[in-house]
Amino acid sequence: MTAHSKTSALMARGCEFLGSETAILCGAMSWVSERNLVAAISNAGGFGVIACGAMTPALLDAEIAATKTLTDKPFGVNLITMHPDLFELIEVCAKRGVTHVVLAGGIPPKGSVEAIKNSGAKVICFAPTLALGKKLLRSGADALVIEGSEAGGHIGPVSTSVLAQEILPTLAADHLVFVAGGIGRGEAIAGYLEMGAAGVQLGTRFACASESVAHPAFKKAFFRASAREAVASVQVDPRLPVIPVRALKNKGTEEFTAKQVAVAKLLDAGEVDMGEAQLQIERFWAGALRRAAIDGDIESGSIMAGQSVGMVNKEEPVTEIIAALMAESEAALGGRAGAPVIAA
Ligand SMILES: Cc1cc2nc3c(=O)[nH]c(=O)nc-3n(C[C@H](O)[C@H](O)[C@H](O)COP(=O)(O)O)c2cc1C
Repeated sequence: MTAHSKTSALMARGCEFLGSETAILCGAMSWVSERNLVAAISNAGGFGVIACGAMTPALLDAEIAATKTLTDKPFGVNLITMHPDLFELIEVCAKRGVTHVVLAGGIPPKGSVEAIKNSGAKVICFAPTLALGKKLLRSGADALVIEGSEAGGHIGPVSTSVLAQEILPTLAADHLVFVAGGIGRGEAIAGYLEMGAAGVQLGTRFACASESVAHPAFKKAFFRASAREAVASVQVDPRLPVIPVRALKNKGTEEFTAKQVAVAKLLDAGEVDMGEAQLQIERFWAGALRRAAIDGDIESGSIMAGQSVGMVNKEEPVTEIIAALMAESEAALGGRAGAPVIAA
């Protein structure tokens, strides 16, 4: 018997699917979700996910291999659907025996879900609406993540609470749905589990864990920030659809506005097509996040963070974060927080 029997019972389906002790995923965070954090999360009973981001197939191969030297627990790999080498990356995952692949950043291109499933891995997709969620499940997705606009990084327009109410009552009984965005404490986890979620995904809460390689200045910016400072980027040109990004407000936020204007001009002049324009925007974010998270440039880099950043105020080992989340959830469900349960 575990010490969190009510929470564990509600997480059982999610745990079985993930092969983990708790159905708490640490969502992939570019540059941050690398071997150390991913292995620490999985070793602590959560489910770590490598952020492939813009990595080449060779780099991803090395990252998966290195992660496997740090943990023998299951972990996933997050691939961005617009990556030009998506199918090669899928092959790398297959070759390395990755058990779960998360497809992020848009509707999976034709053949990608099948290619992953043929390797024996499970496919997890992001569902931005109920209709798309149903379509993704019909196309072979084994599980869905619904992520609200409170989240850090690239976001959709709808809040987690509304998405959960729209999607969980229809899909959660027969399918595995994980809820993400704005979760900072276990009470919120308990609420989504009671609504039928198979588990949850957090990013912001784990970004500053002791095991995270994020730069100390990046972590400090998180500890100081409140929810209202984690703002969504704005689209300046209606012809250039950019996916909003939630990050702490700084000079980099303004530089993004200038970048959009520059790219819109290139589009006007016919120097780039829409696909290239969007790729330039994505490359901007990847570079800006690296500058903040790895180099510690919190002035002009992008400090991607969700609104739950106000609940992150110190560096803690992953084991303590997961233990606190489970205890809070258990207490909210009326169980005894963290108390050991003696098997009868
Ligand atoms: C710094 C940072 C980088 C992120 N990078 C990615 C990414 O590369 N791919 C992805 O699918 N999600 C990314 N996300 C989203 C997380 O995986 C996760 O879904 C999200 O953080 C959950 O919401 P929360 O921030 O409110 O906990 C990122 C989030 C943060 C904070």
